[in-house]
Amino acid sequence: MATAGDPVFMRADLASLDETRALAARLAAAGPLHVLVNNVGAMYPQWRQTVDGIEATFAVNHLSPYLLTELLLDTLRTTGESRIVNVSSGAVRAAKRTFDAVEPPGGYYAFPWYGRANLAYTLHLAERLGSTGDSVFAADPGGAATAMTDGTMRVSTIVSPGLRPAWPLVRRMFARSTSGPASTAARPSDLAATEAALDGKTGLLIGPDLRPATPSRWSTDPRMVRDVLALSRQWAPLTAE
Ligand SMILES: NC(=O)c1ccc[n+]([C@@H]2O[C@H](COP(=O)([O-])OP(=O)(O)OC[C@H]3O[C@@H](n4cnc5c(N)ncnc54)[C@H](OP(=O)(O)O)[C@@H]3O)[C@@H](O)[C@H]2O)c1
Repeated sequence: MATAGDPVFMRADLASLDETRALAARLAAAGPLHVLVNNVGAMYPQWRQTVDGIEATFAVNHLSPYLLTELLLDTLRTTGESRIVNVSSGAVRAAKRTFDAVEPPGGYYAFPWYGRANLAYTLHLAERLGSTGDSVFAADPGGAATAMTDGTMRVSTIVSPGLRPAWPLVRRMFARSTSGPASTAARPSDLAATEAALDGKTGLLIGPDLRPATPSRWSTDPRMVRDVLALSRQWAPLTAE
């Protein structure tokens, strides 16, 4: 039997909103929650849907972490001085910036569809929680050789057809920027989750160099934030319908 302090593994498929809700319920029932790190991420080379009928890149990279966080807010705030860390990506700079619908117009290309919404949501949440003592950070790991980058970033279908003639160059650029070890890329999240010097601070994007970085300006554009929130609430309601 597990005792206090023992790690406990809880499995959930975050491509399923029901499983995400069930995970939130199990975590809330487990007691105080000091830190929530939303590290889940996936970049699918081909368009696919989740069991909920939602485009999977948006669901796994944004909707599930959004839903898990919203469902755990009471637990985190009751614990007090908690931290929420959302792992972000430099890909946000190349992201499709339309949020009228889950799927932006122009066809599915993983790279610009990936990482679209989570930075805008993170910075909004920091502002929403304000100076309650609970902190919300985004962490940009930079690049690393991981299952995600070793697989998906080797196929040209992840970029738009216009960029494909330059694929050998783009691929070399991706390979260079994702060649480092995962242990180094984990440092921004680790720091955001644990660094005592960040006590009392909130709303920072911790960059790959472990310093606060300037977020893409569009991530704080009130119209973008409004649209991200509306889309999130529409597609990931807190209770199953
Ligand atoms: N690698 C980079 O260059 C890079 C750059 C920028 C941002 N990031 C971000 O860093 C984070 C970690 O990614 P990574 O590069 O370390 O890739 P990774 O090794 O593929 O890790 C992704 C993680 O997400 C989990 N995951 C994926 N789909 C899931 C699902 N449906 N349900 C539950 N868990 C699921 C995976 O679990 P399993 O292992 O069980 O599949 C794994 O733990 C992501 O948020 C990613 O966007 C990475």
